[in-house]
Amino acid sequence: MTKKQKIAIIGSGGLLGQELVSYLSLSDKSTIIPLEHGEIEIEDPESTDKNIIKHLPDIIINCAAIPNVDICEKDPDKCFGINTDGVTNILNSIKKSGSSSAFIQISSSEVFGRIKEGQYKINGYKEDEAPDPISVYQKSKTNAEKITAQFARKNPEVLKRWYVTRAGWLYGKGRKTFVESFLEALQKKDALTIVKNQWRSPTWTKDFAKGLSELINGECESGIYHIVSEVKEGEATTMDVIEEIKKYLGDRTEKTKIELVPRNELFKTPRAPSNVILNTKLPKLPYWRDSLQEYLKKYYPL
Ligand SMILES: NC(=O)c1ccc[n+]([C@@H]2O[C@H](COP(=O)([O-])OP(=O)(O)OC[C@H]3O[C@@H](n4cnc5c(N)ncnc54)[C@H](OP(=O)(O)O)[C@@H]3O)[C@@H](O)[C@H]2O)c1
Repeated sequence: MTKKQKIAIIGSGGLLGQELVSYLSLSDKSTIIPLEHGEIEIEDPESTDKNIIKHLPDIIINCAAIPNVDICEKDPDKCFGINTDGVTNILNSIKKSGSSSAFIQISSSEVFGRIKEGQYKINGYKEDEAPDPISVYQKSKTNAEKITAQFARKNPEVLKRWYVTRAGWLYGKGRKTFVESFLEALQKKDALTIVKNQWRSPTWTKDFAKGLSELINGECESGIYHIVSEVKEGEATTMDVIEEIKKYLGDRTEKTKIELVPRNELFKTPRAPSNVILNTKLPKLPYWRDSLQEYLKKYYPL
C-alpha cells in the first residue's frame, strides 16, 4: 500500500481553510492536518517550528493571513508580521525540520493594484504579468510571493515544489462574504450602496479547492498560478454579481434601490478598479455565473 501524503493546512479555520480541509479530506491518498489559529501563530517562529517539526508534512498550504484591507492599512506592522514575515517563518521551519516539502502560498489578485485610469485592465491579468501593489495589504501579499520564490531558488533541496496560487473574490460557507451581504440586502433592505466600475473574479471556495487539488495531484511545475472562475470580457462588475443574485431570488427581492458610487466614496483604503485574473495554466474552472447559481441553490434554497 502506498503511504498517504500528509497535507498541513495553516489557517484551517478561515473561509478558504475550512473548504480546503473538507475538499482535500475526500481523497483517500492524503491525511489532512488542520492547523487553526491558536494552535499555530505564524508570526512566532517558535510556534511554526514546533508545528512543522511535529507533523513533518509532505505538503504545506498557507491560508493564514489578515485579508481585511482596512485592518492592514490601520496596522501595517501586524499586517506585514503575519502576511509576509509569517511566510518567512514557515519556510525557515521547513528548512529546520530537515525534511523536504511542497509549499503552497495562497496569494491574491490584489497584487495587481493599479488604480489609475488607463493603467488597469478590465479583462484580466495573466500569471506572468508584473504585480504593482499600492495598499499595505497588496504589498504584504506581493512580498510573500517574492519571498517564496526567492527561498525556493536558494534552497532547492528544501522545497520539492512551490506554488503561489492567486485567488480572486472568494465566497463560500466558511464565513459571511459579499454574497451573503448582497443576498440579505436584496431580501430585507430598501437600499443598497455599491461601488461602480469595479471588476473582480468571483470564485466559490469549492472551485478554488478543486483547482488546487488538480495543481497538487497533477505534479505541476513550480510557479505562479491563478485559481479563479472564468469570466467573460467586461465581467464581472459588482452590479453583475447583484444581478445574478437577483435572478436567483426572482420575485422574492424587495424593491431594493441600488445606488452606485465611486470607489473613494465607499472605501477607506484605495481599491484597484479591476483585479480580474486569468487562469492560463490549469484546467478551466466553471463559469462564475454557473457556480454562483449552484452555490445559492445549495445553501439558500428558496
Ligand atoms: N477572502 C478573499 O476574498 C480572498 C481573496 C484573495 C485572496 N485571499 C487570500 O486567501 C487566503 C485565505 O483568506 P480567507 O478569506 O480564508 O481569510 P480568513 O477567513 O480571514 O482566514 C484566515 C485564517 O488565518 C488565521 N490567522 C490569522 N492570523 C494568524 C496567525 N498569526 N497565525 C495563524 N493563523 C492566523 C485566521 O484566524 P483568526 O480568524 O482566529 O484570526 C483565519 O482562520 C489569504 O491568504 C488571503 O490573503 C482571500
